Amino acid sequence: MSEIAIQVTGVSKSFGQGEALTKAVQDVTFNANFGEILYVVGPSGSGKTTMLSMISGILKPDAGSVKIENIDIWSLSTDDLADFRLHKIGFVFQDYHLFPRLTTAENVAIPLILQKRNWDESIQEAVTNLEIVGLKGRAELPPVKLSGGEQQRVAIARAIISRPDILILDEPTASLDGDTGRNIVGFVRKNILTDRRCIIIITHDSRIYEFADRIMRMEDGKLKDIDIKKESLNAQ
Ligand SMILES: Nc1ncnc2c1ncn2[C@@H]1O[C@H](COP(=O)(O)OP(=O)(O)O)[C@@H](O)[C@H]1O
Ligand SMILES: [Mg+2]
Repeated sequence: MSEIAIQVTGVSKSFGQGEALTKAVQDVTFNANFGEILYVVGPSGSGKTTMLSMISGILKPDAGSVKIENIDIWSLSTDDLADFRLHKIGFVFQDYHLFPRLTTAENVAIPLILQKRNWDESIQEAVTNLEIVGLKGRAELPPVKLSGGEQQRVAIARAIISRPDILILDEPTASLDGDTGRNIVGFVRKNILTDRRCIIIITHDSRIYEFADRIMRMEDGKLKDIDIKKESLNAQ
């Protein structure tokens, strides 16, 4: 049995009220283990992003608990949670969230700089990670000069630069062509995943199913299945 990295228990989140109430996530319970890549699939609007935002300390659940490495993250103070996120969690947002006034390399270096690492070393490390995602020579450019797919790769480089224990990628290949997407997720599988890390990927992209250890499905805010066979998804 692998060790549990993330323990999600009875987590729920709603938005709005009255007639506008949306139950985005309803009573979701599951574990994610060290050493695995867990995929979350499901139709648009099924609550995938909301659920992973609660796991990564971005969005507070209405009910339930999230434990990462046995720490109940939503019982931490705001400062302690920010610190925990900085050191333990890498997150790639669906819409990248790059800072327009920083260069590409500075965007990627942010986690190291926030960890108070030396500036020049952090930028150097950022350049190395940009090369890993195929963006050699783009370090000095502002993100607006990059295509959507390139910006997505900058966001991935930023999430992996500190080699966090928990890596969460929200539709990381949506703007990438098949080969680029497979190369990047293949790299993550081969070089980032270790038996002390846990990676969760939200995706619709059947081209990268081969890199999953386990696939779970959400529907209407609920967890429908926690161990779908890859073959059955590829056949759809
Ligand atoms: N900030 C928000 N305010 C209001 N409704 C939201 C918000 N975020 C998500 N929702 C709603 O919650 C539901 C789940 O959304 P989301 O988690 O983004 O789904 P998915 O990532 O699976 O596409 C959708 O109905 C969406 O419209
Ligand atoms: Mg989403």
